[in-house]
Amino acid sequence: MSVVKLTYHGHSCFGIDVDGTRLLIDPFLTGNELADITADQVEADYILISHGHGDHVGDTIQIAERTGAMTISNFEIQCWLAAQGVERTHPLHIGGGYDFPFGRVKLTIAHHGSALPDGSYGGQPAGFLLYLEGKKIYHACDTGLFYDMKLIGEEGLDVAILPIGDNFTMGPDDALRAVKLLEPQVVIPIHYDTFEVIQQDPGAFAARVEAETAAKCVVLKAGDTYQL
Ligand code: NI
Ligand code: MN
Repeated sequence: MSVVKLTYHGHSCFGIDVDGTRLLIDPFLTGNELADITADQVEADYILISHGHGDHVGDTIQIAERTGAMTISNFEIQCWLAAQGVERTHPLHIGGGYDFPFGRVKLTIAHHGSALPDGSYGGQPAGFLLYLEGKKIYHACDTGLFYDMKLIGEEGLDVAILPIGDNFTMGPDDALRAVKLLEPQVVIPIHYDTFEVIQQDPGAFAARVEAETAAKCVVLKAGDTYQL
């Protein structure tokens, strides 16, 4: 019986355990007071980075160095990470996917920016479509609402991980419209409360999702795990 376990580490960061292989998405831990784990503790075999902003690249370099994890993102960020000394890199680009030993990763569009912390060009921002042990997970990362979410939803999603913080990404109103386009089984809200300008009430969002759509909304605190 295969098991996929999502553990939320705050903001946009998840650890995903796929039958013992550990994926880590957008490891912004140092500097996030709401994170439940530190960059020294977190384990990873693969690190997925959605875009170049500091609250997503986060501690990638340090964690990759300590764990030997392979990093996965768009081409531009992989070139930047390699130049910082990261040894194992796998570049992808929007619309492309690759079958890794743990499952498939495909990059989706996202409407956002992607400059790297030192101002380097970080290419286009992305979301992730993950195919893990027969489960389909869409992590939208940082994005505004876009109608092509309907195409992503045609995959038949088990889980959609959506930002609700507003200001830098979709807020709750547009995230609710996103749920209607994506039609996932389960929605997990992210990218809120970390900063003053993205304070939200995830419980109120969950109530709206469950009143207006067929999806179940699971609100995770940092450290919580959701098993598929
Ligand atoms: Ni961003
Ligand atoms: Mn962000």
